[in-house]
Amino acid sequence: MIKKIGVLTSGGDAPGMNAAIRAVVRTALSKGMEVYGVKRGYVGLITGDIVKMDERSVSDIIHTGGTILYTARCPEFRTAEGVAKGKAKCDELGIEGLVVIGGDGSFRGAADLSAQGMLCIGIPGTIDNDIACTDYTIGFDTAMNTAMELADKLRDTSQSHDRISVIEVMGRGAGHIAVHTGVACGATDIITKEMPYDLDAIAKTMLEKKAMGKQNFVVIVAEGIGHSQEIATALQEKTHIEARATILGHVQRGGSPTLRDRVEATRMGYYAVELLEQGIGNRVVGIKDSKLVDYDIQEALSMTKPYDERLHHIAEQIAF
Ligand code: ADP
Ligand code: F6P
Repeated sequence: MIKKIGVLTSGGDAPGMNAAIRAVVRTALSKGMEVYGVKRGYVGLITGDIVKMDERSVSDIIHTGGTILYTARCPEFRTAEGVAKGKAKCDELGIEGLVVIGGDGSFRGAADLSAQGMLCIGIPGTIDNDIACTDYTIGFDTAMNTAMELADKLRDTSQSHDRISVIEVMGRGAGHIAVHTGVACGATDIITKEMPYDLDAIAKTMLEKKAMGKQNFVVIVAEGIGHSQEIATALQEKTHIEARATILGHVQRGGSPTLRDRVEATRMGYYAVELLEQGIGNRVVGIKDSKLVDYDIQEALSMTKPYDERLHHIAEQIAF
């Protein structure tokens, strides 16, 4: 029976990480384990910035964005020496299991630590929803709702001025936020890396729609495409409709998590500790068809996540 576990958040933060930390800590305590919070991801594991958590350490955080454990990117942990230092620190404190809340990069670190004999469980936490072994990652819903609210506001001013509004949402490597936000905002066009696009064709369709009485055009662009200002300038030149670009940026990573993020974070946090309790490690927790699942970390990292092309096509087809 495992007696001491640690928990850390790593990589980009995401709303709902606190709810996951809370679930891990309270589940472990309820099972009679000791729990340690590791600060700033693998940085704290290497330097020993590790604090004992109790019931009250996670009070009043379920509704807050960010992560009370802080997060960081730790280049040293990509080296064998860094991983060895982290393992040594765990051994020193008697920590036998570790819950890593983060993205693919953080899971690679967890796989390396698992190879050194540490029981590690990954919980997917990233606003991008770009982790293949799970339908859902913590933070995705909150980020999309933030993007949707901001896009709605931009639409108001775009409508008043008969303009094109080019709105860049986060997602460096994946267009999941873009396609969902685009649908939710009734965007005229959605531009993601996963689908081909043609600015001449977009401009031509805009002019046809304008001739039929359309006054504003919302174009959602995924961060991975970049060049939002250039896209706005090009569309303005091609259509002679005024265009403005807005990059929503890190505002999408903050804020109080939505109900969905709090609930999924709680379910996954609980499940992660259940696995550790059984002496199971080297797994990533996920949600498939609403059910909790877990995969070998390497297997999880080798999977690829499909883009929802159908949703993209639906959006295109009904954008008049
Ligand atoms: P995310 O977890 O959101 O994908 P990163 O890719 O920045 O974020 O990874 C977070 C941290 O995980 C890195 O700063 C590093 O400490 C660790 N990490 C990433 N890749 C590896 C790797 N190949 N081996 C060991 N640790 C890694
Ligand atoms: O992975 C989440 C994410 O917000 C991406 O959408 C974005 O590209 C990246 O992190 C930004 O990272 P940083 O915080 O280093 O600017």
